[in-house]
Amino acid sequence: MKKNEIGPRTFIYPMPVTLVGANVNGKPNFTTIGYCGAINHNPPMISVGINQKHYIRIGMNQNKTFSVNIPSSDMVKITDYCGVVSGHKVDKSQIFEVFNGKLENAPMIAECPLNLECKVVQTILYPMQEVFIGEVIAAYAEDKFLTNGLPDIKKMKALVFSMHDNNYWTIGENIGKAWSIGNELKDKLKE
Ligand SMILES: Cc1cc2nc3c(=O)[nH]c(=O)nc-3n(C[C@H](O)[C@H](O)[C@H](O)COP(=O)(O)O)c2cc1C
Repeated sequence: MKKNEIGPRTFIYPMPVTLVGANVNGKPNFTTIGYCGAINHNPPMISVGINQKHYIRIGMNQNKTFSVNIPSSDMVKITDYCGVVSGHKVDKSQIFEVFNGKLENAPMIAECPLNLECKVVQTILYPMQEVFIGEVIAAYAEDKFLTNGLPDIKKMKALVFSMHDNNYWTIGENIGKAWSIGNELKDKLKE
């Protein structure tokens, strides 16, 4: 086996594609973000890494609230658009149907299958990005995207992203049950 050393970069595959929302100076703004991940199960906490120049960051610091909206693959063009134009120059407040939840200051996108409403609990400044740690206060989804009350990745038609080659992908087939499919190896590998 010969492995190539391909350099230290943030090669996490696949990355999620999210639309982070915040009110900036009283108006909703939405920014495409791949640096988003779960960091604590209970209470539910997530992180988003936002470039220090981005307009959305102003609102996240103003209100200490934000939303994470998961677009479907049908929304790929508008999702990309939110990642190529900045609220510094273009008003993105009218492009989606916006709704508010419990925090009343974390604008969410009605068209997205899944919405997380978050309260900022910590921020960490890195050389390029500010990382916002948010506690998820509530999550929202329409019936059509749920199975047994939980988000159904197939119904949501979730979008994923490969960073550095800059490509969007859809999700493939289900290949097994987590915390289960590996059980059959327990006895085999003991031998
Ligand atoms: C697929 C994709 C993923 C992106 N991921 C991030 C990210 O994780 N962090 C970041 O700071 N910018 C990211 N960007 C860039 C911002 O979305 C982009 O610069 C945007 O125009 C900033 O908007 P704003 O100034 O209105 O906040 C991404 C863009 C795209 C297209």
